[in-house]
Amino acid sequence: MDLTDIASSDISWHTMHVDKLSRAKQKNQKAAVLWLTGLSASGKSTIASMLERRLHSNGSHTYVLDGDNVRFGLNRDLGFSDRDRVENIRRVAEVARLMVDAGLLVIVSFISPFRVDRDAARELFDETEFIEVFVETPIAECVRRDPKGLYARALRGEIKNFTGLDSPYEVPESPEIRLDTVGHSVEKTVERVEVWLKERGFLND
Ligand code: ADX
Repeated sequence: MDLTDIASSDISWHTMHVDKLSRAKQKNQKAAVLWLTGLSASGKSTIASMLERRLHSNGSHTYVLDGDNVRFGLNRDLGFSDRDRVENIRRVAEVARLMVDAGLLVIVSFISPFRVDRDAARELFDETEFIEVFVETPIAECVRRDPKGLYARALRGEIKNFTGLDSPYEVPESPEIRLDTVGHSVEKTVERVEVWLKERGFLND
């Protein structure tokens, strides 16, 4: 446990009787976080939602942390400045860590545009627990899809700091999984992730 940047020095870690492994074992699964990163409208939330539905119906214990949704609650005080995005990712990474500790298969669906923040998130987990999934949809396709009309508004100058336009997106260098969503159905895309998880023993039989 890193105590270097904790605001109070008057606290100490309390080890609990029930640990991460026993919580996951009771659920007959390996806990992990699937960290979906990609541009707005790349398909992250659609994939996350369908993936959870499939995993859930096959008996896995899951939870989805979605960028838009978490910004309605825990992160309602954060906007889209670089500084706020860093804090957005720090918080969701910590929440995901708690959920992995609880033995869950967690799907995080956040743009998470900065490499250093994704790497810091990865650092919170054991090596096999953090699965970075790059939803690799090109910006031109995202602009074409534009389901919420946000790109159109950003291109008219009505939204500042929009990812991929006037705010950067740093592509993952070595994600565990890359998903090309152009010309592939959501079902096929989700199936690829399921197979990946199954081959590595994350899913119960
Ligand atoms: S992140 O960059 O901090 O990881 P997050 O995933 O939480 O972003 O939220 C992204 C969602 O917020 C987008 O899907 C979009 O609906 C909305 N949004 C609103 N303003 C912006 C903006 N300036 N840049 C990107 N997404 C935005």
